[in-house]
Amino acid sequence: MTQKHPTALSVNLNKIALIRNSREGNFPDVIEHAKICIQAGADGITVHPRPDQRHIRPSDVTALAALVNPMPSVEFNIEGNPFAEPIGDFPGFLELVEQAKPDQCTLVPDNNQQLTSDHGFDLKQSGEQLKPIIKRLQDKGIRVSLFMDPDPEQIALAKEVGADRIELYTGPYAAAYPEQGQAFRDQLEQHKAAALCAAELGLGLNAGHDLNLDNLPAYREIKDLLEVSIGHALTVDALHQGIIPAVKAYKAICQG
Ligand code: PXP
Repeated sequence: MTQKHPTALSVNLNKIALIRNSREGNFPDVIEHAKICIQAGADGITVHPRPDQRHIRPSDVTALAALVNPMPSVEFNIEGNPFAEPIGDFPGFLELVEQAKPDQCTLVPDNNQQLTSDHGFDLKQSGEQLKPIIKRLQDKGIRVSLFMDPDPEQIALAKEVGADRIELYTGPYAAAYPEQGQAFRDQLEQHKAAALCAAELGLGLNAGHDLNLDNLPAYREIKDLLEVSIGHALTVDALHQGIIPAVKAYKAICQG
């Protein structure tokens, strides 16, 4: 059964910054693209600053905070590794988040060398370390979401360590989607069960990674999906159809 409530679309701008960083100068302009996405209907803007600054830079985070924070209907989400230390002009992940005061911070268990996030937290291992970090951010008025695999035991721990929401890692779901076989059905069932578990615990539900125009409609069957954050595929779709139609196409699925 398709859910009736809209899911917020947060557009991840990492790939715009990646193209910008391939040359000197400020082209394409990340902030201009944020404005275009918002005008096209994006409900939020997401960035994933990393210490190597391969895409989003601390100055982008500051400028995006200045743009988005005053907009009551648009959410700013900063995702990343809470244990990323200061290096060069990167002030450390938590310091950057505290300075920017986004609506939401999504903590992700990725190391500094990783190409992209590829798994959720193991909270049996890192739960105790995360607890004070979650509290520290919440004390600044920032909602905290944890990037998680669809594992009910781990999701229960997310509640225990004080998270407000979880973001389910959808990479394996997206990888299984094209075949439309048993692996896909199993993934969807796992994610539905994880969503139910989160709802029973009172955790809000987000999702992201490798979502695209093909696999997002089926994922929207999941009840109470509050937000998806999408970057890679949306940027590629923007190359084909333009960024405004691309954002509108994702938004239409999120509202359908
Ligand atoms: N969620 C998290 C935690 C991520 O690291 C990323 C990639 O930056 C995304 C969502 C978005 O994934 P994609 O770029 O594949 O849409």
